[in-house]
Amino acid sequence: MPSNGCAGRTKQKEINSIEIPKTYYGEGCYKAIINELKNKNCDKILIIISLSIENMDIMKELLKILDENTISYDIYKKPSGEPTIGTIGKMMHNVCHKNKADAIIAIGGGSTIDLAKIVSVINRTVSPLQTLSNIIDTKKVITEISKTTLFVLPTTGSGSEATDISIVKNNSGEKVALIDPLLLPDIVLLDPLWTLTLPQSIIASTGLDALSHAIEAHISKKKTYMTKTFSSYSINLISSNLLQSITNPNKINNREKLMIGTFYAGIADKHAGVGLIHALSYPLQDLYEIPHSIAVSLFLKFVLEEYYGDFVDHIDEDILIRCIEVINRCMNFTGYRNYLIKLRNRLNLDRMVASCLKRERLLINNPWPISKSQIKNIYKKWSEVI
Ligand SMILES: [Fe+2]
Repeated sequence: MPSNGCAGRTKQKEINSIEIPKTYYGEGCYKAIINELKNKNCDKILIIISLSIENMDIMKELLKILDENTISYDIYKKPSGEPTIGTIGKMMHNVCHKNKADAIIAIGGGSTIDLAKIVSVINRTVSPLQTLSNIIDTKKVITEISKTTLFVLPTTGSGSEATDISIVKNNSGEKVALIDPLLLPDIVLLDPLWTLTLPQSIIASTGLDALSHAIEAHISKKKTYMTKTFSSYSINLISSNLLQSITNPNKINNREKLMIGTFYAGIADKHAGVGLIHALSYPLQDLYEIPHSIAVSLFLKFVLEEYYGDFVDHIDEDILIRCIEVINRCMNFTGYRNYLIKLRNRLNLDRMVASCLKRERLLINNPWPISKSQIKNIYKKWSEVI
């Protein structure tokens, strides 16, 4: 009798892997950057920062240490908002061409880190902007690109430091998610000292966005035992430390745990993906220019309550109740009411449904099927209670 062979006897299981940047964590760990730069023979650095970082004492301290170690640097202050092709072009022309950096350090929130990820892959190419256009058109990075080493010092808890995703605006103003292993940062430094001057509203909204990453990844169809380790620790760390981080900004212990929680949420998101809550939030960002973390926060509690029974199938009920309590208390600090005023009488539910359906990449991660009419019902109900 002919043999079926091994492959014929058992169904091939999907092979999973977890990719995480080399990570330092704890108070003062940012100083490890110096030895890392020396070990990699990097002596010309490009530092990309969010605007709020420039005048921080700790930034001045970092520059002093770089000077003492004769490491030269240029600083680029990223304008607010997602990187656009125009911003990246200007930056390549004004900074990168002259600088020829052999390492990039990103310090700031999600959009600053996203910009640095892109620059790290196009910095050494002959025609960076042409390369970027190709990446946006094909949504792929060419594998033979020689990447510039990327260090990330996150300051807001966006979780972008843990992912190989970069969100950019294309020429039509649409947000495009570029996903490629080369976009993963090389070294991450989770130092709570860099978060101490964050406004309460940013801690609250980015913390809730990160909690949503963890919850959505935890129930995602793509979850594995390993991603669930990161998502469940993340849910615990964020739900136990977010409110304290907002109300007692100098309690460094809470800030450190929150940072690790948001980083774990990023790892879970990278490997298992987010789903319904993020998909529902994108139309608010694309059609009404609501910031990402606020848009996500506006749907987080609503979806958890609307589908409570489905969430309880995946998340311990006591933890879910704690999450809802934390969301309730933290929402007041986000400043979301100012954005609701902007939305009032402007919502076009049909356009929102059409825009949401474009996020199929996210909707397919949801563990229960979501139809077009259900999305419309969610938006209708949500618009009546906000
Ligand atoms: Fe998010």
